[in-house]
Amino acid sequence: MPGVHVSTHPLVAEHLVALRNPATRPPEFRRVIREVTRLLASEALADIPTRPVRAPTPLGTAQGREIAERVAIVPILRAGLGMADGLLEVIPDAQVWHIGLFRDEATLEPREYYNKLPRRLAADVAIVVDPMLATGGSAVRTCEIVRAAGIPRIVFIAILAAPEGIARLGSEVPEVTIHVAVRDDGLDARGFIVPGLGDAGDRQFGTTAQHA
Ligand code: PRP
Repeated sequence: MPGVHVSTHPLVAEHLVALRNPATRPPEFRRVIREVTRLLASEALADIPTRPVRAPTPLGTAQGREIAERVAIVPILRAGLGMADGLLEVIPDAQVWHIGLFRDEATLEPREYYNKLPRRLAADVAIVVDPMLATGGSAVRTCEIVRAAGIPRIVFIAILAAPEGIARLGSEVPEVTIHVAVRDDGLDARGFIVPGLGDAGDRQFGTTAQHA
């Protein structure tokens, strides 16, 4: 499918083993989420426009390049928060626009509870992040919010994706470029990605027992 990129990076594949393992505790889980996100970001941003810049060195001046686009990171709460941290490590000047959604357990459709898009938007590209692209409802809703705000370019980065979510996001917001670490088999009856890794929000924030 055009516009969909599934990582083939060996380090990404190795990190996925740790994320999937139920024995991986929240501190390590958060660290790996940040690490995978940095790797996915370097793939997703490989074609970001740059402009020339003078680069002084101890021996003279080199020709350098700097990123020419203003970047906004849009984490979908809660689980996108750890990915936003990873992205900020590689694009520290990016703005962060939080969007809060949770899935209605009966319908699996997203419900919006928080929107921190600034009144005056100043970004050329928005990078929407959520570790899980399951039915695709949350990703579609968030990309629609960003698109309606007038952001010209949207990139969506997830770690695990179900084929159903990729197809829905690709058809409902076709201009979005999608980067994922892996495409899993599908969804179970509760809308969880299988084989997946469980609930990425609960596993980052140590709330698995309350929601299991
Ligand atoms: C999970 C996940 C995505 C969404 C994916 O969040 O982090 O946001 O579900 O499902 P979808 O593709 O079917 O919309 P959840 O609603 O569990 O909220 P949380 O991040 O607060 O745990």
